Amino acid sequence: MKKIFWPILSLLIFSFSIQDEPQCNTAKLRDRSPFPVGVAINTEKLKDEENYWKIVPVQFNSITPERIMKPMYLHPKKGVYDFAETDHLIDFCRQFQIRLHGHTLIWHKSLPTWIENFKGDPKEWEDLMKDHIQTIIRHCKGYIKSWDVVNEAFNDDGTLRKNIWLKNIGDSYIEKAYRYAREADTSALLFYNDYSLERYGSKFTAVLNYFKSLKAKGIKVDGIGLQMHVTLDYPYISDIDQTAINLQEEGFMVHYSELDIRLNEHGLFSSKKHLLELQQQRMQVIVKGFMKLKPQYRFGITFWGVSDNDSWLTEKSMRARPLLYDARYKIKPMYCGFIEALR
Ligand code: XIL
Repeated sequence: MKKIFWPILSLLIFSFSIQDEPQCNTAKLRDRSPFPVGVAINTEKLKDEENYWKIVPVQFNSITPERIMKPMYLHPKKGVYDFAETDHLIDFCRQFQIRLHGHTLIWHKSLPTWIENFKGDPKEWEDLMKDHIQTIIRHCKGYIKSWDVVNEAFNDDGTLRKNIWLKNIGDSYIEKAYRYAREADTSALLFYNDYSLERYGSKFTAVLNYFKSLKAKGIKVDGIGLQMHVTLDYPYISDIDQTAINLQEEGFMVHYSELDIRLNEHGLFSSKKHLLELQQQRMQVIVKGFMKLKPQYRFGITFWGVSDNDSWLTEKSMRARPLLYDARYKIKPMYCGFIEALR
């Protein structure tokens, strides 16, 4: 009995593990893709996690820092900037010929307490914002050629978010932020970045109209980042594609800037294998849609993390599993979905 049991058991285990291994060519994404493929980086993991640094320079040719370039890290005290981590990341990117996308100059989150507690009149706030934007851009100018200048400035209904910048400088803070950024680097690509724009609803309309009106005033904003924190079936792919096409028609480059495809809304009723297949299909149609843009409008697709283990969504739900690699840094079917769409 024992003699038959073990070979059968090992055969079963073997065939299960074969089934689990996605069937696709694992050639490097960065070499296969006609547009840049990016990833958000946790710089601590780049130092300590072997799998992480084995994957990142091989697969990706664009990086967005997940944290270290946000105001609380770069500008911790009044008049004090700390570029040590950014400079390391620039060296890493230079070594592996990876584009570094600056994220993010003006946001209502990740602020240092000194800015949150700052007391001043509108002019003093504007000086603070100008110094922040220009010091950072000028420091990084030798390597960083693109920036998320303002992040998440609109509410879902299309009104302006009443954040610390709007309250202290007034509605014009967005326009001013882009003017100061342009002054600091005339050739950089300047982006506006936000979530839920890809729903193609009132928030998108408001953002598009706003940046068209800035353009009419002579303030050039080069592109829009659609964060793309999506689920398996929402937003509809037709809405995502239409958002991107509309941006192209209006002359804005398109960045899918923080892509993740979470599974958890469906987690209770479906097998993991089935969910991963749906995620693969979803990945495929998203990339196919992006490929419909003219090459000069495709700034790139950036994933918000390397593995499911690194994702900001995993903090909320272990079942989200939203990225290209599983928690053990093994390729998921979603990776194959990306490759398939490029054919
Ligand atoms: C998140 C990071 O993933 C977290 O690690 C950090 O603590 C907070 O910010 N929109 C953005 C990103 O523009 O910067 C956010 O990143 C996720 C939502």
